[in-house]
Amino acid sequence: MTAAAPSQNASEAVAVAAEKRWAYIVGGIIVLLLAMMVFTGVHWAAMPPSRVETIDVKTVHLKGEFVESNLGTTLGADGKVTVRLIGQQYSFVPQCIVVPAEMPVTIRGTATDAIHGFIIGKTNANTMLIPGFVATFTTTFSKTGEQLMPCHEYCGTGHEAMWARVQVLPPQEFLAKARGGERLSCVPG
Ligand code: CUA
Repeated sequence: MTAAAPSQNASEAVAVAAEKRWAYIVGGIIVLLLAMMVFTGVHWAAMPPSRVETIDVKTVHLKGEFVESNLGTTLGADGKVTVRLIGQQYSFVPQCIVVPAEMPVTIRGTATDAIHGFIIGKTNANTMLIPGFVATFTTTFSKTGEQLMPCHEYCGTGHEAMWARVQVLPPQEFLAKARGGERLSCVPG
């Protein structure tokens, strides 16, 4: 027993040193995370988004830009392509969106009930839809074909079933379809 004591003390010292090292590493990680939180918080507070567009949730369906007959894709007289859509529990309106490839497409969307969001396939088209606010961005689709557009903000029990589809058409085909000036849908013809 007496012979074991020194080596026991030595191994205990090794264990204590290892524990201390870990404590310093974990402490460093916590300090780093706190510093990142403080930095991003202060940074975003000092640099708010450049534009904020609000909309009255109570009248979204009744009047203005997001009435049902105005949803979908339009080709403006100036040649600009605009998509308007709404996210609500648990679907997007419209369910299928037609856009051209290789042309700038401006997407404008809002939500009526909870926070939703979407990403279109493997493109950079990705935004949140927040009740009371209009989300807008412009993107260009490089590839034709059909893309899936899932809701990517947890919005309730039906979240995982909330999908839309996006058909990316060759520019000529899109322009031929859009010539009537009507809202475009995925229905052929
Ligand atoms: Cu809508 Cu998740």
